[in-house]
Amino acid sequence: MFTDMHNHFIYGVDDGCADQDAMLRLLFNLEANRITNLVSTSHITPGLNPFPMDAYCRHFEEAQALIRREGLHMQIYTGHEILYTDLTPRYLREGKALTLAGSEFALIEFMPTENYERLCEAAQKVRNAGYRPVFAHIERYACLSDLRRVEELKDRYGVRIQVNCSLFVHRQGFLRRRWIKSIMKSGLIDYVSTDTHDMPGREPAMGQCYDILLKEYGEDTARALTNDNAQEILEA
Ligand SMILES: [Fe+2]
Repeated sequence: MFTDMHNHFIYGVDDGCADQDAMLRLLFNLEANRITNLVSTSHITPGLNPFPMDAYCRHFEEAQALIRREGLHMQIYTGHEILYTDLTPRYLREGKALTLAGSEFALIEFMPTENYERLCEAAQKVRNAGYRPVFAHIERYACLSDLRRVEELKDRYGVRIQVNCSLFVHRQGFLRRRWIKSIMKSGLIDYVSTDTHDMPGREPAMGQCYDILLKEYGEDTARALTNDNAQEILEA
């Protein structure tokens, strides 16, 4: 049983599923991956593009009805993957951007070119707004190749760290493999999620990822990253 903190299964609101059929296919796929808790994190970009909140809420209810109709064994929760812009703290305070499962934790992503100072500023401002930042797929940010910075984000601002399953499933290149080895040794990752988009190369691979984590790092670590650590959010 796994908890997926980051995915795009709600259809028609971002670059995830295009329609209801695609959403249903993806829900079956997520079930086949033994995901029992699923936080919907559609993209929101404060101040850049308007987010269709009405459609999101409607399609979320449709997903719940489909899960009941098909007898799927999963619980779904609301959320957003929030691009960090100058307006992000205000969107959180005003409830325009949704936290993970209604908790105080907010999933934050960045433009790939953002520098480390901007990430620190984001962590500080999200905290000042009364929320706890979870940084999404940190493997994408060149400025975090130095793990001392990841450590500092966690120690100074209480940032939680999320990476995608693809980091382990599609390990490519010497430098990437060395980075994975170091970050796993230092225990800096909090959650591994699918970030699935219903497009080639973005399929959910939680089951496969768990098997890799189990084999290479043992059961306690595999369970912590794919399920147990996330309970602090669902139970908050
Ligand atoms: Fe995402």
